[in-house]
Amino acid sequence: MAWFCHYLLVLLLTVNGFLITDKFLLNKRPGRTLVLGGGIYDDNNTEIYETIVRLAGGANQAKLGIVLAASGDFNATCTFYFNIFMNMYHARSIYCIPINVNTTSGNSDPHVIDEIKQQTGIFFAGGEPESVIESLFFKNHIPSPALLAIKEMFNAGILVSGSSAGAECMPSAVMAWGGTGSSYNALQFGTYEGSEVSDRDYQLYDKDGGVGLLDGFIIDAHFSERGREGRLIRLLSDTRHLHHGTDWGFGIDEDTAIVITNVGTEDEKAEVIFKRAPFISIKFPYQNGHLYVTP
Ligand SMILES: *[C@@H]1O[C@H](CO)[C@@H](O)[C@H](O)[C@H]1NC(C)=O
Ligand SMILES: *[C@@H]1O[C@H](CO)[C@@H](O)[C@H](O)[C@H]1NC(C)=O
Ligand SMILES: *[C@@H]1O[C@H](CO)[C@@H](O)[C@H](O)[C@H]1NC(C)=O
Repeated sequence: MAWFCHYLLVLLLTVNGFLITDKFLLNKRPGRTLVLGGGIYDDNNTEIYETIVRLAGGANQAKLGIVLAASGDFNATCTFYFNIFMNMYHARSIYCIPINVNTTSGNSDPHVIDEIKQQTGIFFAGGEPESVIESLFFKNHIPSPALLAIKEMFNAGILVSGSSAGAECMPSAVMAWGGTGSSYNALQFGTYEGSEVSDRDYQLYDKDGGVGLLDGFIIDAHFSERGREGRLIRLLSDTRHLHHGTDWGFGIDEDTAIVITNVGTEDEKAEVIFKRAPFISIKFPYQNGHLYVTP
């Protein structure tokens, strides 16, 4: 969690020198790296898409594996990201990893696993976070061979990135899902472990956590756009005593991403890129909430 100490500094620098992040990242490979977007649909999110392609090896080099497990429409989402990463940001290749809630055989398919190991970056598309868990884990939160291949590649240094549900699913901590995603639902009716209630309109969480590439935080996306501060505080409050509970959360706005470098080491550090809107970190009990706004 050392990188929280750097926030203020980084963000002050960011206010005046927007591209300080790029300078830092261009120079050397900054250990295990995550780029997490709070919802980056507009193809003009240039800094974020360029950062992903650059950290995955650069234009004409980056081979991106797209995880579509969260998406409700495999083909359309694959095509959407093909157009963005290939046609607009000049990745070398796109591989849509053929695994979702309805098609899980790819999890143990040697061809799929071999393809995953050819990639220089992975991008988790958005949708429903719990569908990522349903697709890429066996019972009892046992990761599939395909997910283990992604983790192995991440540990070996390839970029992992995601947007929206593809960011929310990254933590090892408790993961938010379901509901309307609003603070009203969470505050009024409480939060529930997925198996406790059948009504998916309640604010749900997965007590076993997400994919597990980042420790110590709950991540929320579309943060101010969908008024999610109340839901994140309630979720932290309700689950912090659990095995995968935590006191820390952060909310990422749309058209905003955080780049976390040296993940899982003493030098772990996060920087915000392409901020058009607030980025919020919350420490529970709710006394140290920080709100950073670009001018
Ligand atoms: C991107 O395009 C959308 C839709 O045209 C527009 O609303 C938005 O302001 C643009 N964003 C940036 C950062 O230029
Ligand atoms: C999975 O199959 C169900 C039932 O056919 C369908 O309603 C749903 O849209 C499918 N989901 C995906 C992600 O393809
Ligand atoms: C998705 O594309 C594949 C390959 O082109 C096709 O076989 C399949 O029917 C498509 N699925 C849907 C739901 O459109």
